[in-house]
Amino acid sequence: MNLEKLIRDVPDFPKKGIIFKDITTLLKNSDGLNYAVNLLYDFAKGKGITKVAGIESRGFILGGILASKLNAGFVPIRKPNKLPAEKISATYELEYGTDKIEIHKDAIEKGDKVLLHDDLLATGGTMEAAVKLIEELGGEVVQIGFIIELCFLNGKDKLKNYDVVSLIKYDKE
Ligand code: PRP
Ligand code: MG
Repeated sequence: MNLEKLIRDVPDFPKKGIIFKDITTLLKNSDGLNYAVNLLYDFAKGKGITKVAGIESRGFILGGILASKLNAGFVPIRKPNKLPAEKISATYELEYGTDKIEIHKDAIEKGDKVLLHDDLLATGGTMEAAVKLIEELGGEVVQIGFIIELCFLNGKDKLKNYDVVSLIKYDKE
């Protein structure tokens, strides 16, 4: 199956000059969804993963499915001021300014083996911050999985010491 064919390019979203990689066209296709989930599951299985942490919002979708398939728990890493209980946060650079993601303090226990999941790797800032959160809580990042990797933005450089997997790689915009 050609997953790339199920991704929709949307020009000038969210702003002029950006070509948005839309995964909703993949998600709504039952064969495509199953195929993508199973590929990511095959990368992650057999590694003793105890928690899957998904990044709000697009990382929640396959993150939840993968957690269930791996018999692991699911942990949300959320945008600021969404989580109700005690939490820690990490900031990361945007094109202009900084942003923040948060995780509940009790979401990860020492020694948890964690699969981090997000839909897309661009500059890597978001995932680098997510790794920090997991490690600060004593979790071990066993693998980092994405549906899409925008290789030309070199986000992998920020995740050098980790097992990074992705299903669709774009070498140029
Ligand atoms: C997008 C994407 C990743 C992140 C990747 O999320 O879903 O989470 O950006 O960017 P980076 O590698 O440069 O850090 P976005 O913040 O747009 O939010 P969303 O998932 O809620 O749409
Ligand atoms: Mg996102």
